[in-house]
Amino acid sequence: MEQSGTFIVLEGPDGSGKTTQIGKIEAYLRERGVDYISTREPGGVQVAEKIRSVILDVDNDMSGLTECLLYAAARREHLIRKVIPALEAGKVVICDRYIMSSLSYQGYGRELGGAVLDINKRAINVNGKEYWPDRNLYLDVTPEVGLQRIHAKHAQREINRLDLEEEDFHRRVREGYLNLTREYAGQFVTIDASQSEEHVFADIKEVIENLLFGGAEQDFS
Ligand code: TYD
Repeated sequence: MEQSGTFIVLEGPDGSGKTTQIGKIEAYLRERGVDYISTREPGGVQVAEKIRSVILDVDNDMSGLTECLLYAAARREHLIRKVIPALEAGKVVICDRYIMSSLSYQGYGRELGGAVLDINKRAINVNGKEYWPDRNLYLDVTPEVGLQRIHAKHAQREINRLDLEEEDFHRRVREGYLNLTREYAGQFVTIDASQSEEHVFADIKEVIENLLFGGAEQDFS
């Protein structure tokens, strides 16, 4: 069956506020009566959640390529078991991270370069079709702001293996994202995530409204 839903991915460096914004997106979609699912990577289905715990465990040391392959394996399972069925049922899929996370974190952060794209093109190819998002909403923050937010929120959110990387890693990740927004310009919308939560959400809402309703609805509030 052809894809008929809409695939929207939230992307951004650690501490860009994706989780908070996804909560707001869910509330908005419910209010508008949109049939949606909200999910995340790595994870979202049992095998992928298990892979997630291996990848993010601070006690597990592994090569960059191993890490890349594990993310790609988790991605494929999640795509086949959760994302594609929802798209085929005509739903909106809101996903916390997807292929652009690997291209930035493993491609640039781990400096694995083009191998990451090759591996991931295989991972997102199902029955001869590559599943790219309709839109990546990229929440842009500097590593300084992002890491500071993470450490401030330490009580609510566990620090994972990637958070512990040195600042240069996070700087490369963000540079990577900025390059990707140019390389894949048609797939991305960049949002300044250093703004207040309300302003960030106002920007996101505008993009989603345009995407789902063709910008027909006007907001007079
Ligand atoms: P998570 O706790 O979900 O972080 P966040 O709330 O920032 O999304 O952990 C996911 C971590 O995995 C995060 O540091 C980004 C990283 N990651 C990659 O390095 N490559 C990938 O392909 C994906 C999906 C995530």
